[in-house]
Amino acid sequence: MDSKIIQNLVDSARQAQQNSHSPYSNFKVGAAVLGANGKIYAGCNVENAAYPLGQCAEATAIGNMITSGTQSIKAVVIASPNDAACYPCGGCRQKIAEFASDDVPVYMSTRSGSLQKVSVGELLPFAFRDSSLAG
Ligand code: THU
Repeated sequence: MDSKIIQNLVDSARQAQQNSHSPYSNFKVGAAVLGANGKIYAGCNVENAAYPLGQCAEATAIGNMITSGTQSIKAVVIASPNDAACYPCGGCRQKIAEFASDDVPVYMSTRSGSLQKVSVGELLPFAFRDSSLAG
């Protein structure tokens, strides 16, 4: 993945992170996905006073991508509010896998600027996808 594209994804995730609505956890997360059309879609976590209704940043970013008419993810960045990498929760791994193949890179960016890279397949081996339904 081109380092300039990764930097643009990090910048977009961090920008979205600033708008995080997370008064209950005080844990601001930003995410950005690169669509197959080359465009970047960002999102933040959106919490709710009814706690279980909160939405992760990844889900917001994916929703923005789908709303714009693109259905394939080529890269993901998740921006953490602290110095520990914020790996996607189990539900978000499944949401990412719906639109990304196993080889798609997922980058975890920290506040201090470090970047860790894994693949969708490493995050969610043996993913359940639409092909599973056909079998
Ligand atoms: N959160 C995300 O937005 N993405 C993740 O990958 C992990 C957790 C959010 C959910 C909740 O609003 C807050 O972080 C604390 O769990």
